[in-house]
Amino acid sequence: MIEKRYSILCVCLGNICRSPVAEALLQKQIEQVELLKGIIVDSAGTSGLHAGELPDPRTRKNALQHGIELTHRSRQIIEQDFFTADLILAMDSQNLKELRKLKPVDSTARIQLFTDYDPRKSDGVPDPYYQSEKAFEEVFKICERCSVELVKELISQQNIY
Ligand code: 4NP
Repeated sequence: MIEKRYSILCVCLGNICRSPVAEALLQKQIEQVELLKGIIVDSAGTSGLHAGELPDPRTRKNALQHGIELTHRSRQIIEQDFFTADLILAMDSQNLKELRKLKPVDSTARIQLFTDYDPRKSDGVPDPYYQSEKAFEEVFKICERCSVELVKELISQQNIY
């Protein structure tokens, strides 16, 4: 029997600043919990503007300062993702809007804002692309908080996947 594994897809616009950080942090958190081993985490962009590229140098620098090396290559979300992913996490409300436009009518994925899991109730992960280095640190911090909360939720709902 082939057992389908629970799959999470993090999505932003370019898949080079926010969603690769969310992906890496979720992956790191999940790896630390035996019960959750096997959950698949990936990321994608609503656009293909940076397809094939490594994360933005500022994103990689910031993540490295936290001991995380980002190796994901940007890719645009495809129709199949709406069926293979169980949970699609939009980084901001614009990404969420775009995902709702892109999703096939029979999509099986649950789509929500990543920051629904932020205990500090931030309203989306702000796009840092045209901002200073400080914005990249803020992205990291928000993604870290949301990942911790989501992992707690996954542990408590462990019987759903
Ligand atoms: P991301 O950030 O959606 O977090 O990857 C951006 C990356 C690229 C652009 C905008 C936002 N861009 O305009 O190229």
